[in-house]
Amino acid sequence: MPDYLLMKRAILVGAGGMGQTWADVLNHHDQVQIAAWVDTDFSRASDAIQAKNLIDTKPYGSLKEAIKAESADFVVDVTIPEAHCSVTVEALRSGLPVLGEKPMAASMEQAKQMVAASEESGKLYMVSQSRRYDRMLIAYREALRENGTLGILNVDFYLGPHFGGFRDEMESPLILDMAIHTFDQARFLSGSKPLAAYCYESNPHWSWMKGAGCATAIFEMSDGLVFNYRGSWVAEGCLTSWEGEWRGVGERGTALWDGHNAIRSEEVLAGDGEFFRPVRSRNLEAPPEILEGIRGSLGEFLEALESGSTPQGECHDNILSLAMVFACMKSSREKRRVEISELI
Ligand SMILES: NC(=O)c1ccc[n+]([C@@H]2O[C@H](COP(=O)([O-])OP(=O)(O)OC[C@H]3O[C@@H](n4cnc5c(N)ncnc54)[C@H](O)[C@@H]3O)[C@@H](O)[C@H]2O)c1
Repeated sequence: MPDYLLMKRAILVGAGGMGQTWADVLNHHDQVQIAAWVDTDFSRASDAIQAKNLIDTKPYGSLKEAIKAESADFVVDVTIPEAHCSVTVEALRSGLPVLGEKPMAASMEQAKQMVAASEESGKLYMVSQSRRYDRMLIAYREALRENGTLGILNVDFYLGPHFGGFRDEMESPLILDMAIHTFDQARFLSGSKPLAAYCYESNPHWSWMKGAGCATAIFEMSDGLVFNYRGSWVAEGCLTSWEGEWRGVGERGTALWDGHNAIRSEEVLAGDGEFFRPVRSRNLEAPPEILEGIRGSLGEFLEALESGSTPQGECHDNILSLAMVFACMKSSREKRRVEISELI
């Protein structure tokens, strides 16, 4: 079959910072053609098409128009979180599967509407949690598994980015815009489901953000796991990586990951009568290369369209990561333990 018949035609929605990155990745994929680029700010879409010299791509000011004019195979939603629900529901109801940016939605009510639209249309809605596609994260998950059932999972996330713009105005910038990645990574690493959250948000006097630049959260997870999160987006000096610094304690040992390259794992040896039992360092194999970041999520989405498999980030699963975010915000505002079942 000629290659052009295998090409899938995408409608890309959103021509902001992340939309530009998606355009590059879609454009370089040998089985994808960007049929349309949509932005409510039409000139952004048309300027971007010109700047990137996408000669086969047409600009549109609304998704409705683009769907009507183009025969497309799927939609990639890279709009602001407040628009994810309307864009995704419109695409699904028009019979198009959707690969959408995180966070799934700006509220749990919207997220539930999106899941319902996927069920009613029978079309796939997958959220791109790009930080899952990281070979070191996958290697760290293996290291944790080797230490048996996980009981404690801790992460420290300390960065001081001076973004300016919408994040500096948000009420919960760290929890809503960033911690969704870290919470989703905790689910990926542990395989456990979130059950309840306790969270305290704060903002130190030197903070350049209006809302809470810091948060501390404890999650009760299934299988007896406790996941502890400590984070700040207004911490200067001695920064952690964007993946955070992790400690996972299992029944047979502990594994650490600095979020960059260093994974350290120690397994306890049988040593009756010792105060601290002796341990042995584990040797970790170099992790295999994978398609990382949004290239990875695009690959998994296309594979799911082809084979009918359920990808990571499928909306019924991803809504649990979003629920961790909203449980934290509720807990911090109402100063109480919040069960995930209150939100889903
Ligand atoms: N995975 C990552 O690492 C990562 C990094 C950055 C951003 N993101 C996510 O990507 C998304 C976009 O972020 P950004 O930084 O590009 O934002 P942005 O504000 O730069 O761009 C968003 C664009 O969407 C357009 N838009 C808004 N509503 C629309 C609608 N209904 N229809 C069509 N266009 C609409 C806006 O005009 C704007 O051009 C967000 O959900 C963000 O959280 C993910």
